[in-house]
Amino acid sequence: MKDILTAPFMVEMIRTLTNMYDHGWDERNGGNVSLMLDEAEVGEYLDVGGAPLRDIPTGFAAPGLEGRYFLVTGTGKYFKNVRYAPEVNLGLVRIGAGGTRAQLLWGFSDGGSFTSEFPAHMMSHVARLSIDPANRVIMHCHPANLLAMTYVHTLDEREFTRTLWQMCTECIVVFPDGVNVLPWMLCGTNEIGEATAEKMKTARLVVWSQHGIYGAGKDLDETFGLIETAEKAAEIYMKIAHLPRLNTITDGQLRQLEARFGVTAREGYLD
Ligand code: 13P
Ligand code: ZN
Repeated sequence: MKDILTAPFMVEMIRTLTNMYDHGWDERNGGNVSLMLDEAEVGEYLDVGGAPLRDIPTGFAAPGLEGRYFLVTGTGKYFKNVRYAPEVNLGLVRIGAGGTRAQLLWGFSDGGSFTSEFPAHMMSHVARLSIDPANRVIMHCHPANLLAMTYVHTLDEREFTRTLWQMCTECIVVFPDGVNVLPWMLCGTNEIGEATAEKMKTARLVVWSQHGIYGAGKDLDETFGLIETAEKAAEIYMKIAHLPRLNTITDGQLRQLEARFGVTAREGYLD
């Protein structure tokens, strides 16, 4: 067996979590990430036929994920510490029958467990996989400008999306499906998990008002870039929202971007 700390998925996960921390998106234990892995890639580093280290109840059912493997951040763990002690702060689990249990194969070595947002992650994986079989990543974090925007901007999804599209030329290219928005809800619950997954069926970004954002994508880089782009747009909005707006990106220009980059804006979102 090869050393799991040298696995490309592990190296990339640690780099990404460190980068998220460095961007200021993950204060203290803020944020959580789950990366779906294939049995073949896990099997190079772990004995997937052996007995699990522990069996952890998930508290919900996720039949669509039986037998799937996830590298996931631990609850209460700090992203800034992951690079120094990955085996404490991360865990690799396999989802058991019905999705009601997760078998720990590696990590959480201090007796810890996966993120309290495991329901939102697993339910969102199911939702995204039903739309895009290549989806592998669910990422949650607390970027300051997107969060700030939810205090001063309408939470109407069309309006919220249009504002972000108008803030940077490339936004509509990166997230033509737009941004869905949930009102404030209690985090760490199955209810917010179900609501997030429902929103994930129509967009890869879901804002949790006064809390943070969820992103989905085929790999860590792409998902990071998705959130990075939305957060940049929100930053520009927060710099200009209190000033008279003399110029903007028009709907005609957004349509030019659609044509030039071969993307289709969310139906009904352009005038
Ligand atoms: P965890 O430490 O349980 O991952 O929670 C952090 C968080 O961001 C909750 O929404
Ligand atoms: Zn959070």
